[in-house]
Amino acid sequence: MRTDTGHVFKLEDYRPSDYLIPRTSLDFRLSPDATHVTALLTIERREGVAPTAPLVLDGDALTLLGVAIDGHALAAGDYEATPDRLTILKPPAAQCFELRLETEIAPSRNEALMGLYRSNNVYCTQCEAEGFRRITYFLDRPDILSVYTVRVEAPHNEAPLLLSNGNPVERGALANGRHYAVWHDPFPKPSYLFALVAGALGKVAGSFTTMSGREVELGIYVEPGKERLAGYAMDALKRSMKWDEDAFGREYDLDVFNIVAVSDFNMGAMENKGLNVFNDKYVLADEETATDADFANIEAIIAHEYFHNWTGNRITCRDWFQLCLKEGLTVYRDHEFSADQRSRAVKRIAEVRTLRAHQFPEDQGPLAHPVRPRRYREINNFYTATVYEKGSEVVRMIRTILGPELFRAGMDLYFERHDGQAATIEDFLKVFEDVSGRDLAQFALWYHQAGTPNLTVSSTHNAAAREFILEIEQSVPPTPAESRKRLMHIPLAFGFVGADGKPVTWAAVEGATVDDGVIHIRKRRHTVRFSGVSERPSVSLNRGFSAPITLSVQQKADDQFFLAAHDSDPFSRWQAFNTLLTDALIAAFRQILDGKEPVFAARLAELAGRVACDEALEPAYRALALALPGESDIARDIGKGIDPDAIFAAREALARIIAETNRDAFSALYDSLADNGPFSPDAASAGRRALRNILLDYLSLLPEGAALAARSVILVAALAVLAHRHSGTAEAEQALAAFEARYRGDALVLDKWFQIQAGVPGAQTVDKVRALMQHPAFSIANPNRVRSLIGTFSSANQTGFHRPDGEGYRLFAETVLEVEKRNPQVAARLATALRSWRSLEPGRQAKAKQALLDMAKVENLSADLRDIVERTLA
Ligand code: BES
Ligand code: ZN
Repeated sequence: MRTDTGHVFKLEDYRPSDYLIPRTSLDFRLSPDATHVTALLTIERREGVAPTAPLVLDGDALTLLGVAIDGHALAAGDYEATPDRLTILKPPAAQCFELRLETEIAPSRNEALMGLYRSNNVYCTQCEAEGFRRITYFLDRPDILSVYTVRVEAPHNEAPLLLSNGNPVERGALANGRHYAVWHDPFPKPSYLFALVAGALGKVAGSFTTMSGREVELGIYVEPGKERLAGYAMDALKRSMKWDEDAFGREYDLDVFNIVAVSDFNMGAMENKGLNVFNDKYVLADEETATDADFANIEAIIAHEYFHNWTGNRITCRDWFQLCLKEGLTVYRDHEFSADQRSRAVKRIAEVRTLRAHQFPEDQGPLAHPVRPRRYREINNFYTATVYEKGSEVVRMIRTILGPELFRAGMDLYFERHDGQAATIEDFLKVFEDVSGRDLAQFALWYHQAGTPNLTVSSTHNAAAREFILEIEQSVPPTPAESRKRLMHIPLAFGFVGADGKPVTWAAVEGATVDDGVIHIRKRRHTVRFSGVSERPSVSLNRGFSAPITLSVQQKADDQFFLAAHDSDPFSRWQAFNTLLTDALIAAFRQILDGKEPVFAARLAELAGRVACDEALEPAYRALALALPGESDIARDIGKGIDPDAIFAAREALARIIAETNRDAFSALYDSLADNGPFSPDAASAGRRALRNILLDYLSLLPEGAALAARSVILVAALAVLAHRHSGTAEAEQALAAFEARYRGDALVLDKWFQIQAGVPGAQTVDKVRALMQHPAFSIANPNRVRSLIGTFSSANQTGFHRPDGEGYRLFAETVLEVEKRNPQVAARLATALRSWRSLEPGRQAKAKQALLDMAKVENLSADLRDIVERTLA
């Protein structure tokens, strides 16, 4: 394990390496405990570098067996080797030479799941960000692009399948039941995109004809016997390949494209060139047990990793500070793909909910950092919602500012200009400046400055002057290491809605640039005067969530009710209703803290009923609108002094009133949505199921609710409703036991069972989680199990995790440390669940802090966990 050195990597310290590695040839002799790796590296000294410059290669926990240059073994004094570094003290004078390295590694003992490891008897690799250095010594940095040839050798019975990046070139049998395969990837790539997979796997085959008529052979490899569960993933892959041609003109470039599903994986999936490796959770879907969210995730992640082939692989990052160059852009692309495949409005609302749930708390807490950070101690901890989701929003804003044609022209220029390069955010912004002639310097602050900007907006209508005035003021709150903020360029999409529900237009505008429905905020204050407006309109702001900001709008509840019924922008219409719900819940929270019964305006519950039954709206949209803001959403909007029990009570009270008010309508609608035909994962069917599930959730609060849930055919959703709304009842216990008995042998399905129980609200869940950690299907070494049980408990169970006596935090800290011994990356990610500890009420705050301090005082903490814990406490 890499323990913390305290070293801070800084963007301004970037400099190109002295040496390049144009060609890499690897030879693996696989064996669980002693895999032998021979690397033949063509090393080239960069022009202008002194021949005396030592060659320093990265390693991590490596054992060096041999080192030779141009065929001659090096003498002891010619190099220095430690587990994490190999220094060739006096490289040859020639500009180019061949370095031969032999290392030995133990995949079966690799529980960090970085580098080469074994999962479920399958050898596989994970090299991003710095895992390649656990395989051989290398210049393990993304600006070193190399052409790889890989030979893999193993006993045939152990590993009939031998895969690596690129195209297959050769394979054959060897003596003693062994065999080998050779792969060649003609596209120069950074080491983090290297991959190798070997084992006994089942194959789902497919093919795709590209826009220029080339045949690409597709393969999805899964645990033997599970082939039938990979059909949806294969279909999603073909649709992704087609979409990238249609939407961005991007064609696939190798003869084969392979995906492998493995059961132990730190992340969701990885875009290795021509050989994507996936967490099996994002490939396998069984109609009986997969939720609609599972299908949507599979589609989105298959697309995301495929899209990296151009945004990430053909054009990669110069250094890890530029991570958003590939991740933010690729998230933007997968969002657009899903929007085109499904419902754009529904997708946008879901994206914004995710951004607010994950990125806003990050941006507003101790772990805040810019989309392009300038500092890191451990790069693994920067695969964050800010880099990904806010990074995607920044790309979306570029499109909003330039319009679709110039945006596409900029992307075309980006692909043309930087193909085969390791690029930067400056390179990316420059293409858009070049195609549009605009100056994006102020806009670039979105990459450089952390924190969620806020806009305060008020309006006045002067009937006599027929003038409507918006007063808009921007502010960016201070974040760690950045106390003073500069003014941003915020594209604020908006619209005026008249009393008849129609758009209200104006004759002229001054005070800000307004074009195509967007106000460009660039100064601290704008007084924007719209002339020729005779009636006072309702103002719909940040339509489509055009900028990732918070809004403080002085607007009457009447206007919100009006917009919730009439706004023509579906996102803003959803937002208006959601704001009403949030405001009501916050008021109820305060009443509860004051020892009062919460009261809600009757028209709110009535509006919920109208939205539910509005046939003009898609079912999926209605389902999203009916979902009350989550407990942590409410907590975030309250800001400080959080008592999760009071939030829970407020939310329960409102849900109950909505259910009681609309009992008959909900019940009839629920029955009418029953699915009779065969199952289909398509978006429209999924939308009907989503609406049915949320109705069931409401109806379950009524006396007859438990029985209704127990009869529901949508298995997983109904189990969650029963377990959460009726925990401890005979119905709930029976349903949980039956589920466990039925799916005992199926780890991915049992993860849902762990998840549901970890999410049961209330103080008793801590003990339940502790008990479930002893369940035979649980394993502290498997990231999916850990995330299902401990991840769900700590990030999706507010009342359980934040139990007032601190027992939730104690279990959490203990488990994080236990996970860390094997897998620091997963432990560090889990630990971020405590990032909002300062917004808790004083009692819980002290206990949460103690849990963090308990972790911080452990000696030899991994770099990953120490970085998170110390920044969280800072
Ligand atoms: N490149 C990442 C995978 C990765 C992340 C490797 C962190 C190493 C460290 C991949 O493209 C990715 O972003 N995967 C996401 C899913 C995606 C749909 C956002 C993931 O794994 O969560
Ligand atoms: Zn990615």
